[in-house]
Amino acid sequence: MTDKTILTVDNLALSYGSNPILKGVSMHLRRGEVVSLLGPSGSGKTTLLRAVAGLEQPHHGSVSIAGRAIYDAAAGIDIPAEKRELGLVFQSYALWPHKTVFDNVAYPLKLRKVSTNEIIQRVHAALKNLGLDHLAERYPHQLSGGQQQRVSIARALVYNPPVILLDEPLSNLDAKMREEARAWLRNLIVELQLSALVVTHDQSEAMAMSDRILLLNGGVIEQQGTPQEMYSQPQTFFVADFMGSNNVIKGRISEIRAGQACVDIGDGLRLWGQRRSDAAIGQEVSAIVRIERARLADGPGEHRAQIDLVTSMFLGDRFEYVLHAGQNLLRAWGQRQEEAGQRWLEFPPEAVWVF
Ligand SMILES: Nc1ncnc2c1ncn2[C@@H]1O[C@H](COP(=O)(O)OP(=O)(O)O)[C@@H](O)[C@H]1O
Ligand SMILES: [Mg+2]
Repeated sequence: MTDKTILTVDNLALSYGSNPILKGVSMHLRRGEVVSLLGPSGSGKTTLLRAVAGLEQPHHGSVSIAGRAIYDAAAGIDIPAEKRELGLVFQSYALWPHKTVFDNVAYPLKLRKVSTNEIIQRVHAALKNLGLDHLAERYPHQLSGGQQQRVSIARALVYNPPVILLDEPLSNLDAKMREEARAWLRNLIVELQLSALVVTHDQSEAMAMSDRILLLNGGVIEQQGTPQEMYSQPQTFFVADFMGSNNVIKGRISEIRAGQACVDIGDGLRLWGQRRSDAAIGQEVSAIVRIERARLADGPGEHRAQIDLVTSMFLGDRFEYVLHAGQNLLRAWGQRQEEAGQRWLEFPPEAVWVF
């Protein structure tokens, strides 16, 4: 860890009853960094965030902020949540319905016995940062979902916490607003020079917003890295499958040669890819290829297979083709409407991963 590290989580473990939820999670967050905790529903994202915040009780490991231990199971340190000085944004926003926007945002400062004059100044500054200044006297029910979400972020930022923790901050917005909000939220975090840990289950949101991604699977970090690394260099089937839109093709290895494996996928079709596990000849494997890397070709050729095109769907910016190969239903994208019938589909071996 360098001195730029603001949050360190070391070997954190937590169980509900006899059910282990976090199984030894280690991670760090540097000053000014946006890190996403990504993973499927139930993988332990919220539990990890709440454990860092002091809202859940781990039984092993440690958490420190700027070098100060806030939790250490071995040393018996457990600083209460309200003394950890972390900014929290919950999925549900958790605004007080009977307080105005101003009073909602002022609350953390009142709790810290800040003077009235300073409260007024800082609340207005926070509201202004989030474009909410004109809504200060409204109540939560008089706001749109997007505005409520901004109020909950303003409340988390108002006392300049060293780290903010956000749990699915965009999940209550509709699809179009979400896409705008993620650019806006990343900008805000970067401009205000905050350090943020953001929970999301949406891989494209994680890629768009973060400097680094930690992918959780069943309470352990399966892989971490920059968005580019996570997308282009997955170490396991789980990571390859989670990041991106994929064709997952079942088959058996029929040949192995110089780091590549040939997979027999039925109907006499074979496909070469990068060998990413120690599976041997004859073993059942899954080959993964991103949809954008499978391509309709004009005719036969190397790494092309003749496949039945079933249908072609218009998606606005492109067409999606649905194809049948053996037991597998495959998808590919292109710019033209295609009639049903036999087609050649090309799988570049460098874009196929065999697990
Ligand atoms: N209070 C609780 N009591 C018992 N089990 C819980 C509790 N909260 C969460 N869990 C379980 O812990 C696992 C992880 O939950 P959570 O951290 O909320 O996942 P995520 O945020 O990744 O969807 C799930 O299997 C969930 O059912
Ligand atoms: Mg959750």
